[in-house]
Amino acid sequence: PTRVLTGITTSGTPHLGNYVGAIRPAVAASRAPDVESFYFLADYHALIKVQDPARVQRSTLEIAATWLACGLEPDKVWFYRQSDVPEVQELTWFLTCVAGKGLLNRAHAYKAAVDKNREAGEDDDAGVSAGLFMYPVLMAADILLFNANQVPVGRDQIQHIEMARDFGQRFNHLYGDHFVMPEAVIDENVATLPGLDGRKMSKSYDNTIPLFAPRETLKKLIYSIVTDSRAPGEAKDADNSNVFQLYQAFASNEETAAMRRAFADGIAWGEAKQALFERIDREISPLREKYDALIAQPAHIEAILRDGAQRLRTRYARPTLDTLRSAVGLRDLS
Ligand code: TYM
Repeated sequence: PTRVLTGITTSGTPHLGNYVGAIRPAVAASRAPDVESFYFLADYHALIKVQDPARVQRSTLEIAATWLACGLEPDKVWFYRQSDVPEVQELTWFLTCVAGKGLLNRAHAYKAAVDKNREAGEDDDAGVSAGLFMYPVLMAADILLFNANQVPVGRDQIQHIEMARDFGQRFNHLYGDHFVMPEAVIDENVATLPGLDGRKMSKSYDNTIPLFAPRETLKKLIYSIVTDSRAPGEAKDADNSNVFQLYQAFASNEETAAMRRAFADGIAWGEAKQALFERIDREISPLREKYDALIAQPAHIEAILRDGAQRLRTRYARPTLDTLRSAVGLRDLS
């Protein structure tokens, strides 16, 4: 079977970008025939950005409830918390020892931190943890540990998957054919969902629309999306509009084509935003109800996560690490 794998960092409340970029395509992929799926909560990754234990725990619960509300079936897919599978860390070290430092210097997240420091006249690495620098190696371990073929993600993650291929290839070259090469799967309609201010929707920009915000909040947030000052009746440029891009991420092709015509005909922003709100709410409402019920049962969610990780370790993670330990010249612990 094809193996599909993806993760979400447990550093905050899941937003529409996570949903359209990763969760929705991943749940759809898990229902295709002949697919084995691995979906996880990236809590080791969260520690790079969030050093508030309560926030990591809350986010873990929220993201787990989100996956389940969006239709993930925990008895049909591998659903787990990254840190419940410590083999991920063991593999991270093996990959660290083959990863080129020069390649890591070029990672987007690290480079962005360096650029910011330079602008502020600081040392390149001021305030940058080694964890941020090593982020792509940890992510490569997530992917390579389970020999994932496909990784559904938003466009911001492509570089990380290319790096995973690079590290995997080097390891294979040195130690034999252990890893398959993963590919990013990007939905071109939603590759980068814009946030309220038009930049990429991201927890770091504080411009997100929470996936399960109450209806009234959702409406308020959508009405607060930044638009240009074109008046009703004036033709609007769909291709450069974040309202349009958000609409397109939720609508069918026919609905999108109709909205494109409405933009050319000068639809008023208020009307476009109302249509966007209704379209999103139509899709999200039934999921929100499930989410609200799930989030009230943390013990139930915890049991699902522990069971998933335990089975996954026995079935794949531990045997794989035993093989890899032997391959690199360490003692097989089994
Ligand atoms: P994270 O937690 O930042 O985001 C989770 C997923 O949501 C997608 N996404 C978006 N897609 C479209 N438009 C947006 N505005 C948007 N914002 C976020 C991301 O592309 C991602 O698919 N490093 C990863 C988590 C991770 C992972 C992995 C992913 C850890 N290990 C292994 C895949 C495979 C991250 O921080 O994603």
